[in-house]
Amino acid sequence: MITLQNVTKEYQKGSIGLDNVSLEVDKGEFAFIVGKSGSGKTTLIKLLLKELEATSGDIVVNGYHYQKMKRRQIPYLRRQIGVVFQDFRLLRDRSIYENVAFAQQVIEVPKRAMKRQVQNVLELVGLGNRLRALPDELSGGEQQRVAIARALVNHPALLLADEPTGNLDPQNAQEIMDLLVEIQKRGTTVIVVTHNKEIVNHMGKRVIALNEGAVHHDEKGGTYDI
Ligand SMILES: Nc1ncnc2c1ncn2[C@@H]1O[C@H](COP(=O)(O)OP(=O)(O)O)[C@@H](O)[C@H]1O
Ligand SMILES: [Mg+2]
Repeated sequence: MITLQNVTKEYQKGSIGLDNVSLEVDKGEFAFIVGKSGSGKTTLIKLLLKELEATSGDIVVNGYHYQKMKRRQIPYLRRQIGVVFQDFRLLRDRSIYENVAFAQQVIEVPKRAMKRQVQNVLELVGLGNRLRALPDELSGGEQQRVAIARALVNHPALLLADEPTGNLDPQNAQEIMDLLVEIQKRGTTVIVVTHNKEIVNHMGKRVIALNEGAVHHDEKGGTYDI
Protein backbone atom coordinates (compact mmCIF):
# COMPACT_ATOMS: atom_id res chain seq x y z
CA MET A 1 0.00 0.00 0.00
CA ILE A 2 2.82 2.40 0.95
CA THR A 3 6.47 2.41 -0.09
CA LEU A 4 8.94 5.11 0.91
CA GLN A 5 12.42 4.78 -0.52
CA ASN A 6 15.16 7.03 0.86
CA VAL A 7 12.72 9.86 1.44
CA THR A 8 14.14 13.15 2.70
CA LYS A 9 12.19 16.33 3.35
CA GLU A 10 14.25 19.43 3.95
CA TYR A 11 12.11 22.49 4.68
CA GLN A 12 14.87 25.09 4.50
CA LYS A 13 18.61 24.68 4.68
CA GLY A 14 19.26 22.84 7.92
CA SER A 15 15.59 22.22 8.81
CA ILE A 16 15.12 18.52 8.18
CA GLY A 17 11.63 17.04 8.54
CA LEU A 18 12.49 13.50 7.38
CA ASP A 19 15.97 12.15 6.84
CA ASN A 20 16.42 9.28 4.36
CA VAL A 21 13.42 7.21 5.48
CA SER A 22 12.63 3.88 3.82
CA LEU A 23 9.65 1.79 4.88
CA GLU A 24 6.80 -0.32 3.57
CA VAL A 25 3.28 -0.76 4.85
CA ASP A 26 1.21 -3.62 3.41
CA LYS A 27 -2.41 -3.42 2.36
CA GLY A 28 -4.61 -4.01 5.41
CA GLU A 29 -1.89 -3.34 8.00
CA PHE A 30 -2.24 -1.25 11.18
CA ALA A 31 0.81 0.76 12.23
CA PHE A 32 1.53 3.34 14.90
CA ILE A 33 3.99 6.16 14.22
CA VAL A 34 5.58 7.42 17.43
CA GLY A 35 8.41 9.75 18.39
CA LYS A 36 9.15 12.95 20.26
CA SER A 37 7.78 16.31 19.19
CA GLY A 38 9.71 17.41 16.10
CA SER A 39 10.73 13.87 15.11
CA GLY A 40 8.99 14.05 11.71
CA LYS A 41 5.62 12.36 12.27
CA THR A 42 3.45 15.10 10.78
CA THR A 43 5.94 15.60 7.95
CA LEU A 44 5.46 11.92 7.05
CA ILE A 45 1.65 12.30 7.10
CA LYS A 46 1.79 15.44 4.92
CA LEU A 47 4.09 13.72 2.43
CA LEU A 48 1.63 10.79 2.19
CA LEU A 49 -1.22 13.26 1.58
CA LYS A 50 0.93 15.00 -1.04
CA GLU A 51 0.50 18.27 0.84
CA LEU A 52 4.30 18.42 0.82
CA GLU A 53 6.78 17.30 -1.83
CA ALA A 54 9.76 15.16 -0.84
CA THR A 55 13.11 16.85 -1.42
CA SER A 56 14.49 13.49 -2.57
CA GLY A 57 13.48 9.82 -2.64
CA ASP A 58 10.40 8.00 -3.91
CA ILE A 59 6.91 7.58 -2.48
CA VAL A 60 4.35 5.15 -3.89
CA VAL A 61 0.86 4.86 -2.38
CA ASN A 62 -1.74 2.47 -3.77
CA GLY A 63 -0.05 2.49 -7.17
CA TYR A 64 0.42 6.29 -7.39
CA HIS A 65 4.05 7.27 -7.95
CA TYR A 66 4.25 10.67 -6.26
CA GLN A 67 7.31 11.92 -8.11
CA LYS A 68 5.92 11.03 -11.55
CA MET A 69 2.18 11.68 -11.26
CA LYS A 70 0.44 14.60 -12.91
CA ARG A 71 -1.12 17.38 -10.85
CA ARG A 72 -4.58 16.53 -12.22
CA GLN A 73 -4.29 13.04 -10.67
CA ILE A 74 -3.97 14.44 -7.13
CA PRO A 75 -7.75 14.59 -6.46
CA TYR A 76 -8.04 10.90 -7.39
CA LEU A 77 -5.14 10.04 -5.09
CA ARG A 78 -6.74 12.03 -2.25
CA ARG A 79 -9.96 10.01 -2.60
CA GLN A 80 -7.97 6.92 -1.71
CA ILE A 81 -6.89 8.48 1.59
CA GLY A 82 -9.06 9.37 4.58
CA VAL A 83 -7.53 11.66 7.20
CA VAL A 84 -8.30 12.43 10.85
CA PHE A 85 -6.71 15.17 12.97
CA GLN A 86 -6.33 15.88 16.68
CA ASP A 87 -8.76 18.83 16.55
CA PHE A 88 -11.58 17.01 14.67
CA ARG A 89 -12.08 19.88 12.14
CA LEU A 90 -15.88 19.61 11.95
CA LEU A 91 -18.14 22.33 10.57
CA ARG A 92 -19.67 23.78 13.76
CA ASP A 93 -22.88 25.06 12.16
CA ARG A 94 -23.66 21.83 10.31
CA SER A 95 -25.31 18.69 11.64
CA ILE A 96 -23.44 15.43 12.09
CA TYR A 97 -25.20 14.12 8.98
CA GLU A 98 -24.17 17.16 6.93
CA ASN A 99 -20.57 17.00 8.12
CA VAL A 100 -20.26 13.47 6.76
CA ALA A 101 -22.45 14.01 3.68
CA PHE A 102 -20.26 16.94 2.63
CA ALA A 103 -17.41 14.53 1.79
CA GLN A 104 -19.76 12.74 -0.62
CA GLN A 105 -21.22 15.89 -2.18
CA VAL A 106 -17.68 16.88 -3.17
CA ILE A 107 -17.42 13.74 -5.32
CA GLU A 108 -21.03 14.03 -6.53
CA VAL A 109 -22.51 10.84 -5.07
CA PRO A 110 -26.23 10.62 -5.98
CA LYS A 111 -28.49 11.70 -3.13
CA ARG A 112 -30.14 8.36 -2.37
CA ALA A 113 -26.84 6.44 -2.28
CA MET A 114 -25.38 9.22 -0.14
CA LYS A 115 -28.14 8.99 2.46
CA ARG A 116 -27.61 5.27 2.81
CA GLN A 117 -23.83 5.50 3.00
CA VAL A 118 -23.80 8.35 5.53
CA GLN A 119 -26.27 6.48 7.73
CA ASN A 120 -24.21 3.26 7.47
CA VAL A 121 -20.90 4.88 8.32
CA LEU A 122 -22.39 6.78 11.28
CA GLU A 123 -23.80 3.49 12.54
CA LEU A 124 -20.37 1.92 12.17
CA VAL A 125 -18.88 4.57 14.51
CA GLY A 126 -21.78 4.24 16.97
CA LEU A 127 -23.61 7.49 16.14
CA GLY A 128 -26.49 6.23 13.99
CA ASN A 129 -29.00 7.95 16.29
CA ARG A 130 -27.30 11.39 16.39
CA LEU A 131 -27.65 12.49 12.76
CA ARG A 132 -29.38 15.80 13.55
CA ALA A 133 -27.10 16.86 16.42
CA LEU A 134 -24.56 19.67 16.05
CA PRO A 135 -20.88 18.97 16.84
CA ASP A 136 -21.03 21.10 20.03
CA GLU A 137 -23.79 18.85 21.37
CA LEU A 138 -21.42 15.86 21.32
CA SER A 139 -18.52 14.86 23.57
CA GLY A 140 -14.95 15.06 22.26
CA GLY A 141 -14.88 11.31 21.71
CA GLU A 142 -18.13 11.47 19.75
CA GLN A 143 -16.85 14.39 17.65
CA GLN A 144 -13.78 12.36 16.76
CA ARG A 145 -16.09 9.49 15.73
CA VAL A 146 -17.84 11.89 13.34
CA ALA A 147 -14.48 12.90 11.89
CA ILE A 148 -13.62 9.22 11.42
CA ALA A 149 -16.99 8.62 9.72
CA ARG A 150 -16.30 11.55 7.39
CA ALA A 151 -12.85 10.12 6.59
CA LEU A 152 -14.33 6.69 5.80
CA VAL A 153 -17.53 7.51 3.92
CA ASN A 154 -15.89 7.42 0.49
CA HIS A 155 -14.28 4.02 1.25
CA PRO A 156 -10.60 5.05 1.19
CA ALA A 157 -7.92 2.35 0.90
CA LEU A 158 -5.82 4.16 3.52
CA LEU A 159 -6.76 5.98 6.72
CA LEU A 160 -4.22 8.40 8.24
CA ALA A 161 -4.75 9.74 11.76
CA ASP A 162 -2.43 12.44 13.19
CA GLU A 163 -2.72 12.30 17.00
CA PRO A 164 -6.45 11.44 16.90
CA THR A 165 -6.65 10.97 20.67
CA GLY A 166 -4.57 14.00 21.67
CA ASN A 167 -7.63 15.90 22.95
CA LEU A 168 -9.38 12.94 24.60
CA ASP A 169 -9.43 11.41 28.09
CA PRO A 170 -7.92 7.91 28.47
CA GLN A 171 -11.21 6.02 28.14
CA ASN A 172 -12.32 7.88 25.00
CA ALA A 173 -8.78 7.54 23.62
CA GLN A 174 -8.90 3.75 24.03
CA GLU A 175 -12.36 3.61 22.43
CA ILE A 176 -11.17 5.60 19.41
CA MET A 177 -8.13 3.31 19.02
CA ASP A 178 -10.41 0.25 19.26
CA LEU A 179 -12.59 1.76 16.52
CA LEU A 180 -9.52 2.33 14.31
CA VAL A 181 -8.55 -1.33 14.78
CA GLU A 182 -12.10 -2.36 13.87
CA ILE A 183 -11.77 -0.30 10.67
CA GLN A 184 -8.48 -2.05 9.89
CA LYS A 185 -10.13 -5.44 10.44
CA ARG A 186 -12.71 -4.48 7.81
CA GLY A 187 -9.87 -4.08 5.29
CA THR A 188 -8.61 -0.48 5.43
CA THR A 189 -4.90 0.17 5.91
CA VAL A 190 -4.57 2.36 9.04
CA ILE A 191 -1.63 4.57 10.12
CA VAL A 192 -1.94 6.30 13.51
CA VAL A 193 0.45 8.96 14.83
CA THR A 194 0.21 9.06 18.61
CA HIS A 195 1.86 10.11 21.86
CA ASN A 196 -0.27 7.68 23.83
CA LYS A 197 2.38 5.43 25.31
CA GLU A 198 0.07 3.22 27.41
CA ILE A 199 -2.22 2.45 24.49
CA VAL A 200 0.64 1.69 22.09
CA ASN A 201 2.35 -0.60 24.57
CA HIS A 202 -0.73 -2.64 25.32
CA MET A 203 -2.17 -2.94 21.79
CA GLY A 204 0.68 -5.05 20.39
CA LYS A 205 0.62 -3.49 16.91
CA ARG A 206 3.42 -2.53 14.55
CA VAL A 207 5.30 0.51 15.87
CA ILE A 208 7.43 2.74 13.65
CA ALA A 209 9.42 5.05 15.93
CA LEU A 210 10.97 8.19 14.47
CA ASN A 211 13.83 10.13 15.97
CA GLU A 212 15.20 13.34 14.43
CA GLY A 213 13.52 12.48 11.11
CA ALA A 214 14.92 8.94 10.87
CA VAL A 215 13.42 5.51 11.65
CA HIS A 216 14.73 4.60 15.11
CA HIS A 217 12.95 1.24 15.23
CA ASP A 218 10.18 -0.53 13.34
CA GLU A 219 8.77 -3.63 15.01
CA LYS A 220 5.66 -5.76 14.80
CA GLY A 221 4.20 -6.02 18.29
CA GLY A 222 6.45 -3.11 19.17
CA THR A 223 6.61 -0.61 22.01
CA TYR A 224 6.51 3.14 22.29
CA ASP A 225 9.91 3.53 23.93
CA ILE A 226 12.70 4.99 21.87
N1 LIG B 1 6.84 24.40 7.83
C1 LIG B 1 8.04 24.09 8.36
N2 LIG B 1 9.13 24.86 8.11
C2 LIG B 1 10.35 24.56 8.62
N3 LIG B 1 10.58 23.48 9.40
C3 LIG B 1 9.54 22.67 9.69
C4 LIG B 1 8.22 22.94 9.19
N4 LIG B 1 7.38 21.96 9.63
C5 LIG B 1 8.14 21.14 10.38
N5 LIG B 1 9.42 21.56 10.43
C6 LIG B 1 10.53 20.90 11.14
O1 LIG B 1 10.59 19.54 10.77
C7 LIG B 1 10.84 18.73 11.90
C8 LIG B 1 9.74 17.68 12.04
O2 LIG B 1 8.50 18.35 12.32
P1 LIG B 1 7.12 17.56 12.40
O3 LIG B 1 7.04 16.62 11.26
O4 LIG B 1 6.04 18.56 12.57
O5 LIG B 1 7.33 16.71 13.75
P2 LIG B 1 6.27 15.97 14.71
O6 LIG B 1 4.95 15.89 14.01
O7 LIG B 1 6.91 14.65 14.97
O8 LIG B 1 6.21 16.79 15.97
C9 LIG B 1 10.96 19.67 13.10
O9 LIG B 1 12.32 19.92 13.34
C10 LIG B 1 10.26 20.90 12.62
O10 LIG B 1 10.83 22.05 13.22
MG1 LIG C 1 3.01 16.46 14.61
